[in-house]
Amino acid sequence: MGSPGAIGVFDSGVGGLSVLQHIRKTFPHERLIYVADSGHVPYGDKTPAYIEKRSHTLTRFLVGQGADAIVIACNTATAAAVASLRDTFSIPIIGMEPAVKPAVAASKSSVVGVLATVGTLESARFAALLERYGDEVEIITQGCPGLVEQVEKGELDSAHTRALLERYTAPLLARGADTLILGCTHYPFLAAQIRDVTGANIMLIDTGEAVARQLQRRMHSELPQRASGDGTTRFFTSGDATAATRIMSALWGDTATAQTLPHEFL
Ligand code: DGL
Repeated sequence: MGSPGAIGVFDSGVGGLSVLQHIRKTFPHERLIYVADSGHVPYGDKTPAYIEKRSHTLTRFLVGQGADAIVIACNTATAAAVASLRDTFSIPIIGMEPAVKPAVAASKSSVVGVLATVGTLESARFAALLERYGDEVEIITQGCPGLVEQVEKGELDSAHTRALLERYTAPLLARGADTLILGCTHYPFLAAQIRDVTGANIMLIDTGEAVARQLQRRMHSELPQRASGDGTTRFFTSGDATAATRIMSALWGDTATAQTLPHEFL
């Protein structure tokens, strides 16, 4: 048996907790370390170069904490940084992208809507995805500025959040979409509110579970000797630790005490 490592997970903020929940279910005994880059959220309106730099900084921190596998629990950061992270760090790096393939398979109306950040929708990675599946069904994209901020504030049920959800889903429904891809890890926390606006018959597709399965496959093949960890979860933020603890605990469903990242990683 090798020594126990840890799974490092990061996002621009609290959205990646929707992925961490699936990782925790899949790996009950692993040591998990989560970083919310709350001091730099949202990523959706930043340049790819900025996001790439932050992704390297956070990955360096996680590796320094003992992480031997990294999950980029963020579609926007994956688009901007997964290739260069894989070039730099020789450990499994799992990224994520909007779940177009399962959505295409699920849609009966052959119209699929993608809700995501502008950064994800404008990326070359997403263009390649559309190229691959865009012939099979009609895929309509919708950038959702402001939604990440509402989740970061914990305002899942406010009138403003509802107004944004109505504005962003209406054009997709009007064009006949029966399946909506939640192409940003913050959005699964709004699934109930989205259903409220769209009606219950719309299918919502989330990538979190598939990411946990992919992580399991990669760890199995690349870290087979690894001893299992202590089952702890630690939370870090580059923003305000008190605010992060409050919102992370609410979304995680248990106390999630956030520590501030060391100065050199802020
Ligand atoms: N949670 C993120 C994603 O999956 C990023 C959101 C943002 O900071 O704009 O894309």
